[in-house]
Amino acid sequence: MLNPAEILSQIANRQKNFALTRDLYCDEGVFQTDLEQIWYKEWLFAIPACEVPKTGNYATMQVGAYPILIVRGGDGKVRAFHNVCRHRGQRLCSKPNGSTPKLVCPYHQWTYELDGKLLYARDMGDDFDASKFGLKPVHCVDLNGMVFICLAQVPPAIGDLAKQLASYLAPNKLADSKVAFSSTIIENGNWKLVLENNRECYHCGGSHPSLCRTYSDNPRMTAMEGPDSASPDILAHWKRCEEAGLPSRFINHPKMQWRLARIPLLNNAESYTMSTKAAVAKRMGDMPFNDAGSLLFFHYPNTWNHFLADHSIVFRVLPISPTETQVTTNWLVHKDAVEGVDYNIEDLTRVWINTNDEDRQVVEENQKGILSPAYEPGPYSMIQEEGVVQFIDWYAETMIERLSPTPAMAAE
Ligand code: FES
Ligand SMILES: [Fe+2]
Repeated sequence: MLNPAEILSQIANRQKNFALTRDLYCDEGVFQTDLEQIWYKEWLFAIPACEVPKTGNYATMQVGAYPILIVRGGDGKVRAFHNVCRHRGQRLCSKPNGSTPKLVCPYHQWTYELDGKLLYARDMGDDFDASKFGLKPVHCVDLNGMVFICLAQVPPAIGDLAKQLASYLAPNKLADSKVAFSSTIIENGNWKLVLENNRECYHCGGSHPSLCRTYSDNPRMTAMEGPDSASPDILAHWKRCEEAGLPSRFINHPKMQWRLARIPLLNNAESYTMSTKAAVAKRMGDMPFNDAGSLLFFHYPNTWNHFLADHSIVFRVLPISPTETQVTTNWLVHKDAVEGVDYNIEDLTRVWINTNDEDRQVVEENQKGILSPAYEPGPYSMIQEEGVVQFIDWYAETMIERLSPTPAMAAE
Protein backbone atom coordinates (compact mmCIF):
# COMPACT_ATOMS: atom_id res chain seq x y z
CA MET A 1 0.00 0.00 0.00
CA LEU A 2 1.60 3.26 -1.13
CA ASN A 3 1.91 6.25 1.17
CA PRO A 4 1.17 9.80 -0.05
CA ALA A 5 4.86 10.57 -0.74
CA GLU A 6 5.17 7.46 -2.92
CA ILE A 7 1.95 8.33 -4.72
CA LEU A 8 3.18 11.86 -5.37
CA SER A 9 6.42 10.48 -6.73
CA GLN A 10 4.64 8.09 -9.14
CA ILE A 11 2.35 10.85 -10.39
CA ALA A 12 5.08 13.48 -10.67
CA ASN A 13 7.39 11.09 -12.54
CA ARG A 14 4.73 9.79 -14.90
CA GLN A 15 5.41 9.76 -18.61
CA LYS A 16 3.30 12.56 -20.07
CA ASN A 17 0.60 11.43 -22.52
CA PHE A 18 0.94 7.82 -21.36
CA ALA A 19 -1.48 5.81 -19.22
CA LEU A 20 -0.75 5.79 -15.48
CA THR A 21 1.30 3.20 -13.65
CA ARG A 22 -0.36 0.02 -12.36
CA ASP A 23 -0.44 1.13 -8.70
CA LEU A 24 -2.39 4.26 -9.58
CA TYR A 25 -5.23 2.06 -10.87
CA CYS A 26 -5.38 -0.54 -8.11
CA ASP A 27 -3.42 0.26 -4.94
CA GLU A 28 -5.43 0.64 -1.71
CA GLY A 29 -3.29 3.59 -0.56
CA VAL A 30 -3.89 5.36 -3.87
CA PHE A 31 -7.62 4.73 -3.52
CA GLN A 32 -7.68 6.25 -0.02
CA THR A 33 -5.61 9.21 -1.19
CA ASP A 34 -7.92 9.73 -4.19
CA LEU A 35 -10.84 9.81 -1.75
CA GLU A 36 -9.14 12.28 0.56
CA GLN A 37 -7.66 14.59 -2.05
CA ILE A 38 -10.35 14.48 -4.76
CA TRP A 39 -13.62 12.94 -3.62
CA TYR A 40 -13.78 14.63 -0.21
CA LYS A 41 -12.78 18.02 -1.65
CA GLU A 42 -14.54 18.50 -5.00
CA TRP A 43 -18.15 19.22 -5.85
CA LEU A 44 -19.81 15.93 -6.79
CA PHE A 45 -22.94 15.41 -8.84
CA ALA A 46 -25.46 13.78 -6.48
CA ILE A 47 -28.92 13.51 -8.08
CA PRO A 48 -31.17 15.23 -10.58
CA ALA A 49 -33.38 17.50 -8.43
CA CYS A 50 -36.46 15.85 -9.93
CA GLU A 51 -35.48 12.63 -8.13
CA VAL A 52 -36.83 14.34 -4.99
CA PRO A 53 -39.74 16.34 -6.45
CA LYS A 54 -41.84 16.75 -3.27
CA THR A 55 -41.35 17.74 0.36
CA GLY A 56 -40.01 14.74 2.29
CA ASN A 57 -38.63 12.91 -0.76
CA TYR A 58 -35.09 11.76 -0.12
CA ALA A 59 -32.17 9.98 -1.76
CA THR A 60 -29.09 8.43 -0.19
CA MET A 61 -25.59 7.89 -1.54
CA GLN A 62 -22.22 6.72 -0.25
CA VAL A 63 -19.08 8.78 -0.96
CA GLY A 64 -16.11 6.74 0.29
CA ALA A 65 -16.63 6.46 4.06
CA TYR A 66 -19.46 9.01 4.15
CA PRO A 67 -23.15 8.03 3.97
CA ILE A 68 -25.05 11.07 2.65
CA LEU A 69 -28.75 11.94 2.74
CA ILE A 70 -30.35 14.40 0.33
CA VAL A 71 -33.87 15.58 1.16
CA ARG A 72 -36.35 18.20 -0.02
CA GLY A 73 -37.61 20.36 2.83
CA GLY A 74 -41.01 21.91 3.50
CA ASP A 75 -39.67 25.16 2.03
CA GLY A 76 -38.96 23.38 -1.28
CA LYS A 77 -35.21 23.54 -0.80
CA VAL A 78 -32.99 20.50 -1.42
CA ARG A 79 -30.48 19.94 1.41
CA ALA A 80 -27.77 17.37 2.09
CA PHE A 81 -26.76 15.94 5.47
CA HIS A 82 -24.46 13.33 6.86
CA ASN A 83 -26.75 10.32 7.08
CA VAL A 84 -25.67 9.68 10.66
CA CYS A 85 -27.88 10.00 13.74
CA ARG A 86 -26.55 12.41 16.38
CA HIS A 87 -27.50 9.97 19.17
CA ARG A 88 -25.32 6.89 18.69
CA GLY A 89 -24.56 7.20 15.04
CA GLN A 90 -27.13 4.97 13.32
CA ARG A 91 -27.53 5.49 9.61
CA LEU A 92 -30.85 7.35 9.45
CA CYS A 93 -32.07 6.23 6.02
CA SER A 94 -30.87 2.97 4.52
CA LYS A 95 -32.92 2.83 1.30
CA PRO A 96 -31.66 4.46 -1.92
CA ASN A 97 -34.86 6.54 -2.15
CA GLY A 98 -37.94 7.20 -0.05
CA SER A 99 -40.41 9.70 1.28
CA THR A 100 -41.01 10.70 4.90
CA PRO A 101 -42.71 13.58 6.74
CA LYS A 102 -39.85 13.66 9.32
CA LEU A 103 -36.48 11.93 9.51
CA VAL A 104 -36.90 9.28 12.21
CA CYS A 105 -33.90 7.26 13.35
CA PRO A 106 -34.82 3.55 13.23
CA TYR A 107 -32.75 2.77 16.37
CA HIS A 108 -34.29 4.90 19.18
CA GLN A 109 -36.57 7.14 17.14
CA TRP A 110 -34.80 10.46 17.53
CA THR A 111 -36.82 12.58 15.11
CA TYR A 112 -35.41 15.32 12.90
CA GLU A 113 -37.13 18.02 10.84
CA LEU A 114 -36.43 17.88 7.09
CA ASP A 115 -34.06 20.83 7.58
CA GLY A 116 -31.96 18.72 9.98
CA LYS A 117 -33.18 20.22 13.28
CA LEU A 118 -33.64 17.68 16.09
CA LEU A 119 -37.34 17.82 17.03
CA TYR A 120 -37.74 14.96 19.46
CA ALA A 121 -35.57 12.66 21.58
CA ARG A 122 -37.35 10.52 24.18
CA ASP A 123 -36.22 10.44 27.84
CA MET A 124 -33.08 12.47 27.46
CA GLY A 125 -33.66 14.43 30.69
CA ASP A 126 -34.45 18.05 31.47
CA ASP A 127 -31.01 19.44 30.72
CA PHE A 128 -30.83 17.94 27.24
CA ASP A 129 -30.37 20.66 24.64
CA ALA A 130 -31.84 19.40 21.37
CA SER A 131 -30.54 22.43 19.49
CA LYS A 132 -27.00 21.03 19.84
CA PHE A 133 -27.84 17.76 18.07
CA GLY A 134 -29.12 18.69 14.64
CA LEU A 135 -27.96 16.66 11.64
CA LYS A 136 -24.58 17.71 10.30
CA PRO A 137 -25.07 19.55 7.01
CA VAL A 138 -23.17 18.86 3.77
CA HIS A 139 -22.73 21.64 1.20
CA CYS A 140 -25.46 21.28 -1.41
CA VAL A 141 -26.44 23.33 -4.47
CA ASP A 142 -29.18 22.83 -7.03
CA LEU A 143 -27.79 24.06 -10.35
CA ASN A 144 -30.73 24.21 -12.74
CA GLY A 145 -31.97 20.80 -11.69
CA MET A 146 -28.56 19.17 -11.10
CA VAL A 147 -27.87 18.73 -7.37
CA PHE A 148 -24.19 18.84 -6.40
CA ILE A 149 -22.74 18.19 -2.94
CA CYS A 150 -19.32 18.86 -1.45
CA LEU A 151 -17.80 17.31 1.67
CA ALA A 152 -15.05 19.91 2.07
CA GLN A 153 -15.26 22.37 4.96
CA VAL A 154 -14.79 25.15 2.44
CA PRO A 155 -15.94 24.01 -1.00
CA PRO A 156 -14.29 25.18 -4.22
CA ALA A 157 -15.96 28.07 -6.09
CA ILE A 158 -18.89 26.93 -8.20
CA GLY A 159 -20.34 30.30 -9.26
CA ASP A 160 -19.00 30.19 -12.81
CA LEU A 161 -20.40 26.72 -13.44
CA ALA A 162 -23.73 27.79 -11.90
CA LYS A 163 -23.88 30.74 -14.30
CA GLN A 164 -23.07 28.68 -17.39
CA LEU A 165 -25.47 25.87 -16.47
CA ALA A 166 -28.20 28.44 -15.86
CA SER A 167 -27.77 29.56 -19.43
CA TYR A 168 -27.09 26.24 -21.22
CA LEU A 169 -29.66 24.17 -19.30
CA ALA A 170 -32.45 26.75 -19.16
CA PRO A 171 -34.25 25.47 -22.31
CA ASN A 172 -34.23 21.87 -20.99
CA LYS A 173 -36.11 22.85 -17.79
CA LEU A 174 -34.86 19.91 -15.76
CA ALA A 175 -36.93 21.10 -12.81
CA ASP A 176 -40.03 20.26 -14.87
CA SER A 177 -38.88 16.74 -15.63
CA LYS A 178 -39.20 13.36 -13.91
CA VAL A 179 -37.06 10.26 -13.63
CA ALA A 180 -38.50 7.81 -16.17
CA PHE A 181 -35.92 5.11 -15.49
CA SER A 182 -32.89 4.62 -13.29
CA SER A 183 -30.11 2.06 -13.50
CA THR A 184 -27.19 1.43 -11.14
CA ILE A 185 -24.39 -0.91 -12.14
CA ILE A 186 -21.06 -1.84 -10.58
CA GLU A 187 -18.04 -1.86 -12.88
CA ASN A 188 -15.09 -3.91 -11.64
CA GLY A 189 -12.56 -1.24 -12.47
CA ASN A 190 -10.89 1.76 -10.88
CA TRP A 191 -12.89 5.00 -11.07
CA LYS A 192 -10.21 6.61 -13.24
CA LEU A 193 -10.60 3.85 -15.84
CA VAL A 194 -14.35 4.54 -15.92
CA LEU A 195 -13.68 8.26 -16.52
CA GLU A 196 -10.92 7.59 -19.08
CA ASN A 197 -13.24 5.33 -21.02
CA ASN A 198 -15.90 8.03 -21.08
CA ARG A 199 -13.48 10.68 -22.34
CA GLU A 200 -12.72 9.02 -25.68
CA CYS A 201 -14.61 7.46 -28.56
CA TYR A 202 -11.57 5.59 -29.95
CA HIS A 203 -13.36 2.49 -28.65
CA CYS A 204 -16.84 3.37 -29.89
CA GLY A 205 -16.66 1.74 -33.32
CA GLY A 206 -15.49 -1.55 -31.80
CA SER A 207 -17.77 -1.57 -28.76
CA HIS A 208 -20.96 0.44 -29.28
CA PRO A 209 -23.01 -0.70 -32.30
CA SER A 210 -26.23 0.84 -30.98
CA LEU A 211 -24.74 4.18 -29.89
CA CYS A 212 -22.87 4.50 -33.19
CA ARG A 213 -26.17 4.69 -35.06
CA THR A 214 -26.57 8.24 -33.76
CA TYR A 215 -23.35 9.38 -32.03
CA SER A 216 -20.37 10.37 -34.14
CA ASP A 217 -17.02 8.85 -33.17
CA ASN A 218 -15.17 11.58 -35.09
CA PRO A 219 -12.71 12.93 -32.51
CA ARG A 220 -12.89 16.43 -34.03
CA MET A 221 -16.52 16.59 -32.97
CA THR A 222 -15.65 16.75 -29.29
CA ALA A 223 -12.07 18.06 -29.38
CA MET A 224 -11.27 19.88 -26.16
CA GLU A 225 -11.08 23.36 -27.66
CA GLY A 226 -14.09 22.68 -29.82
CA PRO A 227 -14.11 21.77 -33.50
CA ASP A 228 -12.31 24.05 -35.93
CA SER A 229 -13.58 25.52 -39.16
CA ALA A 230 -12.99 22.13 -40.77
CA SER A 231 -16.31 21.07 -39.27
CA PRO A 232 -18.93 22.98 -41.25
CA ASP A 233 -21.64 20.62 -39.98
CA ILE A 234 -21.14 21.62 -36.40
CA LEU A 235 -20.87 25.33 -37.22
CA ALA A 236 -24.17 25.16 -39.09
CA HIS A 237 -25.70 23.22 -36.18
CA TRP A 238 -24.57 25.84 -33.67
CA LYS A 239 -25.93 28.66 -35.79
CA ARG A 240 -29.34 27.05 -36.08
CA CYS A 241 -29.48 26.17 -32.38
CA GLU A 242 -28.31 29.56 -31.17
CA GLU A 243 -30.85 31.33 -33.39
CA ALA A 244 -33.48 29.17 -31.68
CA GLY A 245 -32.29 30.15 -28.18
CA LEU A 246 -29.98 27.22 -27.41
CA PRO A 247 -26.51 28.27 -26.25
CA SER A 248 -24.13 25.95 -28.10
CA ARG A 249 -20.47 26.99 -28.14
CA PHE A 250 -17.95 24.94 -26.23
CA ILE A 251 -17.27 26.40 -22.78
CA ASN A 252 -14.44 25.06 -20.64
CA HIS A 253 -13.48 25.57 -17.03
CA PRO A 254 -10.05 27.30 -16.97
CA LYS A 255 -8.47 24.09 -15.62
CA MET A 256 -10.75 21.96 -17.79
CA GLN A 257 -12.57 20.43 -14.82
CA TRP A 258 -15.81 20.76 -16.72
CA ARG A 259 -17.09 21.48 -20.20
CA LEU A 260 -20.37 22.29 -21.90
CA ALA A 261 -20.71 21.57 -25.62
CA ARG A 262 -23.61 21.08 -27.99
CA ILE A 263 -23.00 18.65 -30.85
CA PRO A 264 -25.21 17.37 -33.67
CA LEU A 265 -26.10 13.69 -33.85
CA LEU A 266 -25.31 11.66 -36.96
CA ASN A 267 -27.52 11.95 -40.06
CA ASN A 268 -30.01 14.30 -38.41
CA ALA A 269 -30.86 11.72 -35.76
CA GLU A 270 -33.15 13.08 -33.06
CA SER A 271 -32.21 10.97 -30.08
CA TYR A 272 -30.15 8.04 -28.82
CA THR A 273 -32.63 5.42 -30.02
CA MET A 274 -32.34 2.37 -32.24
CA SER A 275 -34.70 4.08 -34.73
CA THR A 276 -32.78 7.41 -34.44
CA LYS A 277 -36.15 9.13 -33.86
CA ALA A 278 -37.24 10.84 -30.64
CA ALA A 279 -38.11 8.40 -27.86
CA VAL A 280 -40.50 10.83 -26.15
CA ALA A 281 -43.36 12.57 -27.95
CA LYS A 282 -43.38 15.47 -25.48
CA ARG A 283 -40.19 17.53 -25.74
CA MET A 284 -38.27 18.71 -22.67
CA GLY A 285 -38.91 22.28 -21.50
CA ASP A 286 -38.64 24.87 -24.26
CA MET A 287 -36.61 22.75 -26.67
CA PRO A 288 -37.53 24.16 -30.10
CA PHE A 289 -37.01 21.13 -32.33
CA ASN A 290 -36.24 17.41 -32.06
CA ASP A 291 -32.90 17.43 -33.87
CA ALA A 292 -31.08 19.76 -31.49
CA GLY A 293 -28.35 17.16 -31.01
CA SER A 294 -26.85 16.58 -27.59
CA LEU A 295 -25.69 19.12 -25.05
CA LEU A 296 -22.69 17.40 -23.45
CA PHE A 297 -21.64 18.26 -19.91
CA PHE A 298 -18.91 16.63 -17.89
CA HIS A 299 -17.61 17.61 -14.47
CA TYR A 300 -14.69 15.83 -12.80
CA PRO A 301 -14.49 13.63 -10.94
CA ASN A 302 -17.93 12.08 -11.25
CA THR A 303 -20.38 13.02 -13.94
CA TRP A 304 -21.05 13.16 -17.67
CA ASN A 305 -24.41 13.98 -19.21
CA HIS A 306 -26.35 14.17 -22.45
CA PHE A 307 -29.21 16.65 -22.75
CA LEU A 308 -31.33 15.96 -25.82
CA ALA A 309 -34.52 17.60 -27.05
CA ASP A 310 -36.76 14.72 -25.98
CA HIS A 311 -34.96 13.49 -22.85
CA SER A 312 -31.85 13.86 -20.72
CA ILE A 313 -29.48 11.21 -19.47
CA VAL A 314 -27.49 12.05 -16.33
CA PHE A 315 -24.64 9.86 -15.12
CA ARG A 316 -23.09 9.65 -11.65
CA VAL A 317 -19.88 7.81 -10.83
CA LEU A 318 -18.96 6.82 -7.25
CA PRO A 319 -15.84 4.92 -6.18
CA ILE A 320 -16.49 1.76 -4.14
CA SER A 321 -13.01 0.21 -3.84
CA PRO A 322 -9.72 0.39 -5.77
CA THR A 323 -11.22 -1.86 -8.45
CA GLU A 324 -14.98 -1.27 -8.12
CA THR A 325 -16.99 1.73 -9.29
CA GLN A 326 -20.72 2.41 -9.15
CA VAL A 327 -22.33 4.05 -12.18
CA THR A 328 -25.88 5.36 -11.87
CA THR A 329 -27.79 6.49 -14.95
CA ASN A 330 -31.07 8.42 -14.81
CA TRP A 331 -33.26 8.99 -17.85
CA LEU A 332 -35.30 12.20 -17.45
CA VAL A 333 -38.40 13.10 -19.47
CA HIS A 334 -40.95 15.92 -19.32
CA LYS A 335 -42.92 15.53 -16.08
CA ASP A 336 -46.21 15.38 -17.99
CA ALA A 337 -45.04 12.75 -20.49
CA VAL A 338 -47.04 9.58 -19.94
CA GLU A 339 -45.41 6.17 -20.12
CA GLY A 340 -47.11 3.95 -22.70
CA VAL A 341 -48.56 7.03 -24.43
CA ASP A 342 -45.70 9.51 -24.98
CA TYR A 343 -42.83 7.05 -24.54
CA ASN A 344 -41.97 3.49 -23.66
CA ILE A 345 -39.08 2.46 -21.45
CA GLU A 346 -37.58 0.01 -23.93
CA ASP A 347 -37.15 2.59 -26.73
CA LEU A 348 -36.02 5.27 -24.28
CA THR A 349 -33.33 3.24 -22.54
CA ARG A 350 -32.12 0.56 -24.95
CA VAL A 351 -29.12 2.40 -26.44
CA TRP A 352 -27.59 3.55 -23.17
CA ILE A 353 -28.35 0.32 -21.31
CA ASN A 354 -26.40 -1.43 -24.07
CA THR A 355 -23.69 1.23 -24.08
CA ASN A 356 -23.24 1.17 -20.30
CA ASP A 357 -22.91 -2.60 -20.35
CA GLU A 358 -20.42 -2.46 -23.23
CA ASP A 359 -18.41 0.17 -21.34
CA ARG A 360 -18.53 -1.96 -18.20
CA GLN A 361 -17.02 -4.87 -20.14
CA VAL A 362 -14.16 -2.83 -21.61
CA VAL A 363 -13.39 -1.19 -18.25
CA GLU A 364 -13.34 -4.58 -16.52
CA GLU A 365 -11.04 -6.10 -19.16
CA ASN A 366 -8.86 -2.99 -18.95
CA GLN A 367 -8.57 -3.44 -15.16
CA LYS A 368 -7.76 -7.15 -15.52
CA GLY A 369 -4.93 -6.40 -17.93
CA ILE A 370 -3.56 -3.61 -15.73
CA LEU A 371 -3.48 -6.00 -12.75
CA SER A 372 -0.90 -8.11 -14.63
CA PRO A 373 2.69 -7.59 -13.50
CA ALA A 374 3.48 -7.45 -17.22
CA TYR A 375 1.40 -4.29 -17.67
CA GLU A 376 3.35 -1.24 -18.73
CA PRO A 377 1.71 2.16 -19.42
CA GLY A 378 1.21 2.73 -23.14
CA PRO A 379 0.86 5.96 -25.14
CA TYR A 380 -2.47 7.70 -25.67
CA SER A 381 -3.47 8.59 -29.23
CA MET A 382 -3.17 12.36 -29.52
CA ILE A 383 -5.73 12.26 -32.33
CA GLN A 384 -8.32 10.10 -30.60
CA GLU A 385 -7.63 10.34 -26.86
CA GLU A 386 -7.13 14.04 -26.25
CA GLY A 387 -9.96 13.96 -23.70
CA VAL A 388 -8.25 11.16 -21.75
CA VAL A 389 -4.95 13.05 -21.74
CA GLN A 390 -6.81 16.10 -20.48
CA PHE A 391 -8.56 14.13 -17.70
CA ILE A 392 -5.32 12.47 -16.59
CA ASP A 393 -3.54 15.85 -16.65
CA TRP A 394 -6.32 17.31 -14.47
CA TYR A 395 -6.02 14.37 -12.05
CA ALA A 396 -2.21 14.52 -11.95
CA GLU A 397 -2.03 18.30 -11.53
CA THR A 398 -4.68 18.26 -8.80
CA MET A 399 -2.95 15.48 -6.87
CA ILE A 400 0.53 17.03 -7.26
CA GLU A 401 -0.76 20.36 -5.98
CA ARG A 402 -2.46 18.76 -2.97
CA LEU A 403 0.24 16.21 -2.08
CA SER A 404 3.27 18.47 -2.52
CA PRO A 405 4.82 19.58 0.74
CA THR A 406 4.03 23.20 1.56
CA PRO A 407 7.06 25.51 2.13
CA ALA A 408 6.29 25.37 5.89
CA MET A 409 6.33 21.55 5.88
CA ALA A 410 9.54 21.43 3.83
CA ALA A 411 11.28 23.68 6.36
CA GLU A 412 10.47 21.37 9.28
S1 FES B 1 -28.86 6.04 17.26
FE1 FES B 1 -30.42 7.20 16.42
S2 FES B 1 -31.88 7.33 17.94
FE2 FES B 1 -30.29 6.19 18.84
FE1 LIG C 1 -18.02 3.84 -24.36
